[in-house]
Amino acid sequence: MTKQQKIYVTQPSLPDLQAYTKLLEQIWESKRITNNGDFHKQFEAELCDFLKVNHLSLFANGTLALMVALKALRITGEVITTPYSFVATTHALHWNGIKPVFCDINEHDFNINPDKIEALITPKTTAIMPVHVYGNPCNNDKIQKIADTYGLKVIYDAAHAFGVEKNGESILNWGDLSVLSFHATKSFNTVEGGAIVTKDEKLKERIDFLKNFGFANEVTVVGYGINGKMNELMAAYGLLQLKTFNSEVTKRKRITDLYNRLLKDKKGIKLNATPENTTSNYSYYPVLIESEKSGKTRDEVYEQLKQNNIYARRYFYPLISQFPAYRGLPSAGDDRLPVATKIAQQVLCLPVYAELDEETVQKIGKTVLL
Ligand SMILES: Cc1ncc(COP(=O)(O)O)c(C=O)c1O
Repeated sequence: MTKQQKIYVTQPSLPDLQAYTKLLEQIWESKRITNNGDFHKQFEAELCDFLKVNHLSLFANGTLALMVALKALRITGEVITTPYSFVATTHALHWNGIKPVFCDINEHDFNINPDKIEALITPKTTAIMPVHVYGNPCNNDKIQKIADTYGLKVIYDAAHAFGVEKNGESILNWGDLSVLSFHATKSFNTVEGGAIVTKDEKLKERIDFLKNFGFANEVTVVGYGINGKMNELMAAYGLLQLKTFNSEVTKRKRITDLYNRLLKDKKGIKLNATPENTTSNYSYYPVLIESEKSGKTRDEVYEQLKQNNIYARRYFYPLISQFPAYRGLPSAGDDRLPVATKIAQQVLCLPVYAELDEETVQKIGKTVLL
């Protein structure tokens, strides 16, 4: 690595260009470029097999998929969610006229704290929308139990959880629906893209109507649909990405293991505990900088890295509840979200991507410890 080269938090892996060109030639030949074409159908089927799920609907991006997931289940009123996520989680609620109610998170996995959900339920609550942050699986047993007791739906924002399994089973089968993002920054990308996963065939049908303006057939519109469709160019690209996903994960794991060796037991640096019985996708490498022990704030470490051309990211700072659009909500006060507030001040995600070489990881590790 030369001194000038900038290292970003992630770098997308692209499919083999020659192989993609061949698929593009087929698309040019057929003139079928969108609206549930052959590549779209094939990609949905292959993703279902690969992810071990029953039904999946492709989308142009994860945000539209979240919006349609809420619409498909007719969610209204209030939804309990986490402030420790990307802002699209809560924006999808707002776009459906739903009020987000923020719940604090766990220290150990950064996910919604299920023990704090019940106290936030009101007569207007219709659903819980947790996020598997960094691909760490939520405590589904506890969340589903609360949902069953109070008659609530569960929609998982699984944007970070492509391919994640717990006890050998896909966590995408949890809850009523799970939503994936295939954005360029994710471990599996189709440039932009996303999907909704469901166990229910009828629900998939409704989702497919809604993502196509609500059209059930040429003359029937079943509701307030939107244009959320993935096109053929992205579906073909995605089919090729599937072939290399497992080797991508292996490469990311190697980087994660190396960071762990470099940063383990270092004063003032807390690592993301590997979740038990979980097959991870190693999408992110978050560390917590505990300034009282390390003698440096997270922002000082962040700047120190930047000066060395290493662009780590403070995911998720600021909390969603701190943005002007949401900070007026009763549930948004920092005093109600002490753990999330603390973690947002400490977190730093270090670069992880398949092509990151060992020498660079060593350099990043050393720079964090400067
Ligand atoms: C947790 C989370 N939810 C939703 C999204 C939105 O996905 P997209 O960018 O595909 O719209 C993202 C990332 O982009 C995310 O990280």
